[in-house]
Amino acid sequence: MANDTSLNLNLPTLKHTLDLGKQLGRLLSAGTILLLEGDLGAGKTTLIQGLGAGLGITDAIVSPTFALIHEYPEGRIPLYHFDLYRLTSAEVHDLHPEHYWLGLEAPLGITAIEWPQRLSDEPENYLSIELAHIEHGRTAALSISGVVDCWNEVRRSLTAESTAT
Ligand SMILES: Nc1ncnc2c1ncn2[C@@H]1O[C@H](COP(=O)(O)OP(=O)(O)OP(=O)(O)O)[C@@H](O)[C@H]1O
Ligand SMILES: [Mg+2]
Repeated sequence: MANDTSLNLNLPTLKHTLDLGKQLGRLLSAGTILLLEGDLGAGKTTLIQGLGAGLGITDAIVSPTFALIHEYPEGRIPLYHFDLYRLTSAEVHDLHPEHYWLGLEAPLGITAIEWPQRLSDEPENYLSIELAHIEHGRTAALSISGVVDCWNEVRRSLTAESTAT
């Protein structure tokens, strides 16, 4: 069930996941926090690769492992990519992801976080995307918490596409 703060999409192919990311990369504003949930292999990194393309980033986007965070300053606005899978909540706390989404550590951009369940302090305002496997492809459940700039525009533009359910 979709309402003003959520939207459900079908992503039948890999290209749909990339295109969803691209749309978000074109529309989201600096300061947006994107929390990506879903099982191993659900498509979180793929969506962030699309997001990078939509922002105009040409560097290859791969999940941060040893680096913990990858910074991509070259696009329309900066992208900060966290993958918290291997970390404990205490380690995540020491990493201070809020310094990125508050623009304290680096210029304000989009902070995209895989495995946000590991966050010790959940942000107040964010866009959550929960990806799930289905027989052919994936589903994406988008929802906002608090205030997310451009959400209405994002919702309108994604609803106009035939994948909205
Ligand atoms: N809509 C889709 N339909 C079919 N395959 C897809 C779709 N979206 C992504 N994939 C494929 O799913 C696989 C896993 O994707 P990805 O690495 O992005 O997942 P992930 O959620 O980041 O996994 P992890 O939890 O390990 O970080 C990739 O091979 C990708 O091409
Ligand atoms: Mg991943």
